[in-house]
Amino acid sequence: MLLELKHVSRRFGNITALNGISFTVGEGEIFGFLGPSGSGKTTTINIVTGQLKPSSGVSYVLGRDSQSIDQQIYEQIGIVSDRSGVYERLNVYDNLVVFAEILKVPKDRIDYYLAKVGLADRKKQPAGKLSKGQKQRLILARAILHKPKLLFLDEPTSGLDPTTVREIHELFLELKAQGTSIFLTTHNMEEATKLCDRLALLDRGTIIEQGSPREICLRHNTEKRFRLMTTAGDELEFGSTADEYDRLCRLLMRHEVETIHSCEPTLEDVFVKVTGNSLTR
Ligand SMILES: Nc1ncnc2c1ncn2[C@@H]1O[C@H](COP(=O)(O)OP(=O)(O)OP(=O)(O)O)[C@@H](O)[C@H]1O
Ligand SMILES: [Mg+2]
Repeated sequence: MLLELKHVSRRFGNITALNGISFTVGEGEIFGFLGPSGSGKTTTINIVTGQLKPSSGVSYVLGRDSQSIDQQIYEQIGIVSDRSGVYERLNVYDNLVVFAEILKVPKDRIDYYLAKVGLADRKKQPAGKLSKGQKQRLILARAILHKPKLLFLDEPTSGLDPTTVREIHELFLELKAQGTSIFLTTHNMEEATKLCDRLALLDRGTIIEQGSPREICLRHNTEKRFRLMTTAGDELEFGSTADEYDRLCRLLMRHEVETIHSCEPTLEDVFVKVTGNSLTR
């Protein structure tokens, strides 16, 4: 296991930010951590990366207790957090040179990753003059420069335009194919469904669901329903009683069905149902 948490809790005064959470992330996985604002996602990343102490419970990263991570472990992980900044006065290229030196990475890799995140033509621009999305891509390039085994991404695409988001998703899948595992927090349900092998839904510091996106959605597909449009343009909905199946079959056999969809819940439907909260802000 690359990441393992056992009954991790964290209190801040009388606020319980995390309430006994447990999960594992295995080799080659993209693991999604979903939950509304304030549910404890960043706190979890801070604990597992050794930046914050848990009140109780233990977490291991790459086999090492998170509370005793050393340089050797840090060289194998990458972090994009909401606190990640850039050296505003250094240009884009030099921002990466600083990290290449710390992480003992050959400098020729800088150009490769700048091209990957679409910043090749911004090399000489001061990082402080980049747009929000460009800055985020620079932070991402920096986090992957040393080809980490495990990458922590805290809402990496929040506030970016759809084209940039799509490019960044492709980059994540490419990294995964090359053997990097990813721990990803997001509010974006489409992102989670598309990228994550497994995920956990967090609500007020408690994990309320875990599994693959499909498993989670199907587990909540209690009332199987189908929506269809007939060739005559009528929109009909069917449940799964014997009588309704009969009517549905008759329409199909008479070739009177133009479109048909099953109505299993989306991840967002599941979350709203289980918590009464919407994931999107
Ligand atoms: N240093 C701190 N001191 C006091 N309370 C804190 C501290 N850090 C986090 N909290 C509280 O812990 C809870 C969880 O916060 P956290 O930042 O982990 O949420 P999050 O899921 O990352 O939210 P968001 O989606 O808004 O980033 C919140 O109630 C927050 O106010
Ligand atoms: Mg957060």
